[in-house]
Amino acid sequence: MPHIHIKKDWEISDNLATPESAYMRRREFLKGTALTTAATVGVLYGCGPSSPPNFLPEVKWSELEKSIYPAKRNPAYKLDRPITVEKIAASYNNFYEFGTDKIDPVHYAQKLNIRPWTVQVRGLVNKPTTFDIDDLLKTMPLEERVLRLRCVEAWAMAVPWTGFAFRELLKQVEPKPEATHVRLETFYQPFTAQGQLAFWEPWPYVEGLTIKEAMNELAFLATGIYGHPLPKQHGAPIRLVVPWKYGFKNIKSIVKIELVNYRPATFWNTLQGLEYDFTANVDPRIPHPRWPQTQEKMIDTGDIRPTLPYNGYGDLVAHLY
Ligand code: MTE
Repeated sequence: MPHIHIKKDWEISDNLATPESAYMRRREFLKGTALTTAATVGVLYGCGPSSPPNFLPEVKWSELEKSIYPAKRNPAYKLDRPITVEKIAASYNNFYEFGTDKIDPVHYAQKLNIRPWTVQVRGLVNKPTTFDIDDLLKTMPLEERVLRLRCVEAWAMAVPWTGFAFRELLKQVEPKPEATHVRLETFYQPFTAQGQLAFWEPWPYVEGLTIKEAMNELAFLATGIYGHPLPKQHGAPIRLVVPWKYGFKNIKSIVKIELVNYRPATFWNTLQGLEYDFTANVDPRIPHPRWPQTQEKMIDTGDIRPTLPYNGYGDLVAHLY
């Protein structure tokens, strides 16, 4: 057995840490905010186990949600590993709007108000539409898919998402033939999400896909997880799930989707283009300056597994490239 050593946060060498100037500015910003203590470790933008909290905030179910969850599981999506322990997945999150440590979002994202909530779809479409989230829940073909998620930080999980294929939403707005890309945007509420007060970062969080990727059956919009509505720290009330790409493409708490004829700028690519490319397909052959990409660590069991090209979904998506 080869000895595999995954570095902990505190083992990351100096040259891999956030530059000191950025660190100091971040410290200034955090001073006096509720995030100060929790974010101290997270300034490295790295990964490392946090202890799960003793409790998880209660997920509130509306009457409508009680009638739709759990949705029927789609048997076409099979896992090669156990489903991740829910408590760990729900308290080991990346949601930089609510802090930079993995444990922050479970605490601070609870401030986000998720009703009423609309998703505006516009741009190069015949029928621009603003969808109310509850109308989407009532009308879209909801299903459960158990999928792997691989973060670029070399950790992984496998969870049951509930939602619908992204293309079902796009079909409703009728994309024009000249639309080449889809741009997705998260809310912008800096006084609720204090991470967005960091003026040197390009808020709101934005992500993008090619139109072919968005129309692929694997691109999914999730409204639920583990058979219940999505908790806020996972990106309630609606987030993207593109499991063949690194985790940062899976944008949370979406308010706007725009069809465009150019490759849109994205949050991480704008911040550090050499580390986070636009396409960001999971690929063990492309090394990353900070994290090993040939292997990954399951966040609950700590199991080390070989990273799979396209995160194991090549049969569905490899033809796109
Ligand atoms: N979406 C927004 N709006 N803000 C974020 O910071 N982080 C991304 C992605 N979506 C992020 C986001 C990253 S880096 C990852 S790995 C996944 O969310 C993590 O999803 P999870 O917390 O539900 O596991």
